[in-house]
Amino acid sequence: MADTPKPFHDRADDYVTRVERALTGYLGESGRHSSRLRQALHYAVFNGGKRLRPLLVYASGETLGIPADRLDAPACAVELIHCYSLVHDDLPAMDDDDLRRGRPTLHLAYDEALAILAGDALQALAFEILGSASTLARPASARGQVIAELASACGVDGMAGGQALDLAYEGCQPDIEALETMYRQKTGALIRAAVMMPCALTPQLEDSTCRELATFADCIGLAFQIRDDVLDVEGETATIGKPQGADQARNKATWPSLIGLEAANRRVDELADQARSCLERIGQNTEALAWLATRMVNREF
Ligand code: IPE
Ligand code: IPE
Ligand code: MG
Ligand code: MG
Ligand code: MG
Repeated sequence: MADTPKPFHDRADDYVTRVERALTGYLGESGRHSSRLRQALHYAVFNGGKRLRPLLVYASGETLGIPADRLDAPACAVELIHCYSLVHDDLPAMDDDDLRRGRPTLHLAYDEALAILAGDALQALAFEILGSASTLARPASARGQVIAELASACGVDGMAGGQALDLAYEGCQPDIEALETMYRQKTGALIRAAVMMPCALTPQLEDSTCRELATFADCIGLAFQIRDDVLDVEGETATIGKPQGADQARNKATWPSLIGLEAANRRVDELADQARSCLERIGQNTEALAWLATRMVNREF
């Protein structure tokens, strides 16, 4: 009799170990004799992140039937971009935060110039990995599509654009549509790329599956950022690993600040329901994505 596969709950840690091993391979060793920049890259990446975006890559791959070894490169690349975005997000010119993943932010542990350069180098490494991974050689269109997916998620209509809006809205009261556009860009875009990159490795993927995955990712990306804003209000610094109340201190436009906590929680529930419906319509092999969606919207840190 064939073994019943372990539930994703029991496999998620294996994927985290897997992506961290791959990241270690790509980042090289770091020790006392490494350059300060190389040490800073390690500080930015190996510091207890939840690795949710790599998990989304592997989970989306499970839905599409793609073996994990073909997904290591996209999983590493999206995590490297995410780590870079956090280092820059914490800089004095942006959110000016002093704590990240429970440790001093990189510009405090090193200095601002190193934090800027570490972000630059992490972004470059992400695309170097995608450009050179032999596992992306087939089908012929895969590499280009994966690179385009991640690049557009980082760019002017993605994370960087969303971060610019986030800063522009400080002290303002954008309407809810504008606020959600900012969330979709600054946070949702990378989450969507994590789910969609595996589609490029799937020849003859049905359009309907691709559309449901994209909508699923949009819903959890938005819900994830709203949950982040709720945790900034009601979480505890020791648990969330970043300074509680930082959004209020900087007069950030957030769902809780504009509409209130209760409405923010309702919006998260509504988006989680919509995400679940997408998976139901896909119909099979969605256990991993369903588990991750629940984890992402109910998270405490
Ligand atoms: C934090 O993301 C930044 C947001 C986009 C809200 P995560 O909560 O995934 O951060 P880590 O990687 O686990 O530290
Ligand atoms: C994160 O938004 C968006 C990024 C692109 C990094 P936040 O500014 O809310 O993230 P945290 O709360 O500092 O992790
Ligand atoms: Mg920010
Ligand atoms: Mg921030
Ligand atoms: Mg936040």
